[in-house]
Amino acid sequence: MSAPAPLDIAEAAALLRSGQLVAFPTETVYGLGADATNADAVLSIYETKGRPRFNPLIVHCADLGMAEQFAQFSPLARQLADMFWPGPLSIVLPLKPGHGLADVATAGLDTIALRVPDHPIALELLRAADRPLAAPSANPSGKLSPTTAEQVRRGFGGRVPVLDGGPCKSGVESTIVAVDGARIVQLRAGALAREEIERVTGLAVSQAQTGAKISAPGMLLSHYAPNAHMRLNARPAQGEAFLAFGPAEPFDGITRNLSESGDLHEAARNLFSMLHELDATGLAMIAVAPIPETGLGEAINDRLRRAAAPRG
Ligand code: TXA
Ligand code: MG
Repeated sequence: MSAPAPLDIAEAAALLRSGQLVAFPTETVYGLGADATNADAVLSIYETKGRPRFNPLIVHCADLGMAEQFAQFSPLARQLADMFWPGPLSIVLPLKPGHGLADVATAGLDTIALRVPDHPIALELLRAADRPLAAPSANPSGKLSPTTAEQVRRGFGGRVPVLDGGPCKSGVESTIVAVDGARIVQLRAGALAREEIERVTGLAVSQAQTGAKISAPGMLLSHYAPNAHMRLNARPAQGEAFLAFGPAEPFDGITRNLSESGDLHEAARNLFSMLHELDATGLAMIAVAPIPETGLGEAINDRLRRAAAPRG
């Protein structure tokens, strides 16, 4: 496969404006971006990813001003945006009448998930394109999310132009919340720890119940899956690859350590890359050490459980 020529931001913005897809870096994972106002462009996201159904997408905005064109912000929603944007928080909000976004971006819902990413290239691209960008993670549906441009290129066999911004600093997807009156409901654990939202707002953040009125329809049980099978909270056996966490236990098989010092931020950043690396060894099983459920551990364990779930 010949490597496509590197893309600059102006070229990427022009491609997006003409309805093409461009993968771009964010602080969480690489996104597969399309003009969110162009239904054909958004549909080609589903085609390219092989996304099984029209799962609503997160729409990325350059700033709160752009986001306010599309959704109604309650005072609490605005407070969340002020506190955490740009950053890894997606907020599900009621759509504004006449919003102009493609229905396929929201999968026909009357709400929309919005976020302002905290990445200089993503923000410059959004400003240059001068339109909102719908972007799921830039991987074939169900596979591991990419945290480097190279992983995106490999995932799509070089078919998608990629803006290279180096490795993503968070490494897991954004936290998704909905604002329901005075309540904040977490729909997906992610790169912003629930405790952090609670600390900064002084409000309790509840977990979405399965089947509840507000939920993230895309939360499939089997997701983020490597080719290898996975055993969680495990010690490695011979012939397995080992994804460790914390001070390394002696193991003479292939090992990656998410964070030798037990730092959950470092672990989140390394999670998908190390799974990609262990998967590339071709071993049939990856044993994963226990990871605490606190802070970013909630998002890490969520992704690991989906990666380990029976494949549909
Ligand atoms: O960090 C991230 O969030 C990355 C980067 C690229 O920004 N994007 C990402 O997108 O993870 P994706 O498509 O993999 O996840 C979107 C999630 C899905 O679970 C979907 O169901 C949920 O957002 N979602 C989108 N719109 C929603 C809505 N209106 N109501 C509830 N959930 C929604
Ligand atoms: Mg994804």
